[in-house]
Amino acid sequence: MCETNQKTTKTTPRVATGDRAILPEGAKAIPVYIMGKMYEVPETLTIMKAMEFAGFKFLRGAGCRGGICGACPTVYRMAGDYKLHFGLACQTVVAADMYLAQIPFYPANRAGFNIEVIGGLPEAIHALYPELFRCVACNQCTKACPMDVDVLGYISALKQGNIERAARLSFDCIQCGLCASRCMGEIPQYHAAQLARRVFGKYILPQAEHLKARVAAIEGGKYETMLNDLSAMSKEELEKRYVEREREPDFTERGSWQPKETRYL
Ligand code: FES
Repeated sequence: MCETNQKTTKTTPRVATGDRAILPEGAKAIPVYIMGKMYEVPETLTIMKAMEFAGFKFLRGAGCRGGICGACPTVYRMAGDYKLHFGLACQTVVAADMYLAQIPFYPANRAGFNIEVIGGLPEAIHALYPELFRCVACNQCTKACPMDVDVLGYISALKQGNIERAARLSFDCIQCGLCASRCMGEIPQYHAAQLARRVFGKYILPQAEHLKARVAAIEGGKYETMLNDLSAMSKEELEKRYVEREREPDFTERGSWQPKETRYL
């Protein structure tokens, strides 16, 4: 991200910059400290919107704005509180006297591997991430996680060779890297967890036969004619088609409904 030269203001305009969020009537301006400098921002904004309000422009460190992509990890302290807090800038609402810094990227080693050949045994993960065994179980990783993932739990599962447990415990990880930023064993937890999920999906979970069949149908050209027809349609034709499309009624019993047009099922 970079900072523009917009001046800090004491009055709160009704419309914030950036996402054009409409501020509620009477929203107060509160002081927050962004990278050490004080700005007054509307109390209703997330950290991300507040930074934009203050004049910052996100070139990096912002993605989905919905708490999914992990691009906006942020650390902050509250005035008078010794504790370090963690959150996603797009999800955490500002508070008065918040001292914050965004960490759009945290360097962590990622092992190279070929999922087709590494196999489904824990030893493969141990060989790629031997630093797993540097874990001292301090649990700072779990405390730093803005998604409430049990990071220490999945690291322990990986050390014990339980790939399924590690994959399931880490399922909500969004790869923001805050866990790695706090690790005294310097473990890239989130990369190891991603590998565990991939190994789990490739070697341990039953294969999804219906998915294979659908991929084969796509590769075999089953949908080419339909896609070409759609591509050739005007906007009006597409809108009409969309409005008139067959829709599954609400509250249908599972598996009991089929569209009349079955050519592309
Ligand atoms: S911008 Fe994607 S998680 Fe915040």
